[in-house]
Amino acid sequence: MKVMVAYFSWQGHTQKVAEEVASMLQAPLQRIEAKKDSNIAIKGMKAYFGLKTDIKPCKTDLDDIDHLVIATPVWAGHSTPIINKYISLLTNCSGKSFSVLVEMRDSGGDKTIQQIRKALENKGMAFVSSAMTVEAEVDADNFHETVSQFVESIKNLEN
Ligand SMILES: Cc1cc2nc3c(=O)[nH]c(=O)nc-3n(C[C@H](O)[C@H](O)[C@H](O)COP(=O)(O)O)c2cc1C
Repeated sequence: MKVMVAYFSWQGHTQKVAEEVASMLQAPLQRIEAKKDSNIAIKGMKAYFGLKTDIKPCKTDLDDIDHLVIATPVWAGHSTPIINKYISLLTNCSGKSFSVLVEMRDSGGDKTIQQIRKALENKGMAFVSSAMTVEAEVDADNFHETVSQFVESIKNLEN
């Protein structure tokens, strides 16, 4: 089964978690970046209203991928505008499965997972699993158990 881990990270926490997931799954990592940075108020406002931000070119064709892991920080209780845009650009994704990983300071993870789940299901994809990590735990290097369980839920697809 070919897995790809696609992530956006502004301050490095989501990146740290996504790197560990990709390494444990021996999966390629796709970093997603905004074309232009914006100030924090614009970031929060666009996230809150479910808007999109232009992203740099990256792999959005899932033709050769069976399972997509998508990872994002929580912004204003929602998914990030960068991830919203990435999802809108995905092609050859119908019939494929996905898992969602969200990273947050303290709240909004459940809602963010539901938002991403709905967006990917609307593109014909099938939800498998989700996980949440917390900034302080990532800083303290105390997130490995969460990642192990998440990775296990994806490895189980091969059985
Ligand atoms: C614009 C903005 C809005 C945020 N909103 C939330 C929020 O609603 N809930 C929360 O728990 N953390 C919130 N955070 C904190 C981030 O989710 C947290 O710092 C996360 O670890 C950042 O991940 P990163 O280092 O990969 O960018 C917000 C951060 C930013 C920049």
